[in-house]
Amino acid sequence: MLKICKVSEVRIRLLTKQPALAHGDAIMVRSLIEPENVTLPVFLRPSSGGSIMAEQTPLAYFGGKFIPVTDAKVGIMTHALHYGTALFEGIRANWNEEEGKSFIFRPIEHYQRMADGIKVLRMSSLRLTPEEMTKLTVELVERNNYRGDMYIRPIAFKSAQKVANLKLHELEDDFAIIAQPFGAYLDASVLRCVISSWQRIDENMIPPRVKLSALYVNSILAKTDAVLAGYDEAILLNSKGFVSEGSGENLFMVKNNELITPPLSDGILPGVTRSTVMQLAREELHMAVAERSVGRTELYLADEVFLSGTAAHPTAVGELDNRKIADGKIGPVTKRLQDLYFQVIRGKVAKYRQWCVAAVPSGAVRAK
Ligand SMILES: Cc1ncc(COP(=O)(O)O)c(C=O)c1O
Repeated sequence: MLKICKVSEVRIRLLTKQPALAHGDAIMVRSLIEPENVTLPVFLRPSSGGSIMAEQTPLAYFGGKFIPVTDAKVGIMTHALHYGTALFEGIRANWNEEEGKSFIFRPIEHYQRMADGIKVLRMSSLRLTPEEMTKLTVELVERNNYRGDMYIRPIAFKSAQKVANLKLHELEDDFAIIAQPFGAYLDASVLRCVISSWQRIDENMIPPRVKLSALYVNSILAKTDAVLAGYDEAILLNSKGFVSEGSGENLFMVKNNELITPPLSDGILPGVTRSTVMQLAREELHMAVAERSVGRTELYLADEVFLSGTAAHPTAVGELDNRKIADGKIGPVTKRLQDLYFQVIRGKVAKYRQWCVAAVPSGAVRAK
């Protein structure tokens, strides 16, 4: 029998050290939160002092409802599972402690990019607008009632239970959103990078400007090989030999006080963070910003190099192919942009507050 000693919103501490229970196990507990006696599934995770913490299973938006993520399941025949016929977004909800709310950063822009992908993958049954998807996202974050940074993962996918059918227009679609607590994505604050032996996929192979799941095999091969070789991140060149981007980030370099980033035509994802950084550099740092092709050697000789992404934030590259970039530390432009960016994404800069959509933890969390 588990003894419950503390209930604070969705966190429940289990007093008994149960050898049979381990990190990742799911159990059912009776909620002492309003309304009483609702049974909720929870996940267990270790906490300091050797006790086990139980957290309510996050809710997902799935099949048109908000349900525990553990109940949001697809079948083994799902087309997207076999062929990568899905597209997704990565959005952050950034917790603002002073205001007691989360700020979802630029969800409309993320969902506009998803709408582009929906068009490419001929998901004609998905008619939600970016505004409607944003509204669902706010509701999901609020219902999850988590007071901390979250990562939101919407996914549009070919849900048809059909294999051996390669005709997009014959396959049904579905849309879901999951959200989970999230901290840093990258393992270092100043990165050691390597140019990948994997080439970035070209526009006429799989379109890199929409976030197609299948495309990520390219990124995952590059990232895995880079990490297994002892680096933090991979940078991919395109088929013309120009720099495209990191496995999950866009790339910037600073040379002679100019900010330079590869153009969309060099096989990059049009990053929301990329466009944010470009605007902040122009308007707040009064820098010239150029979108042009970048050669690999230019990166070795740059004053600064950094990567940008929703998960990765702007993060300095200190070393590339075992060559230091300048002195190998975070450069002044990267630092200023990073500091400003962290303020902006938490809704702390009035001028850019319109990029942030507020979500207030709901207090009572229940599936509907
Ligand atoms: C391949 C790739 N490039 C760039 C980015 C950065 O895009 P954003 O700033 O919209 O997160 C990502 C992140 O999702 C990515 O996966």
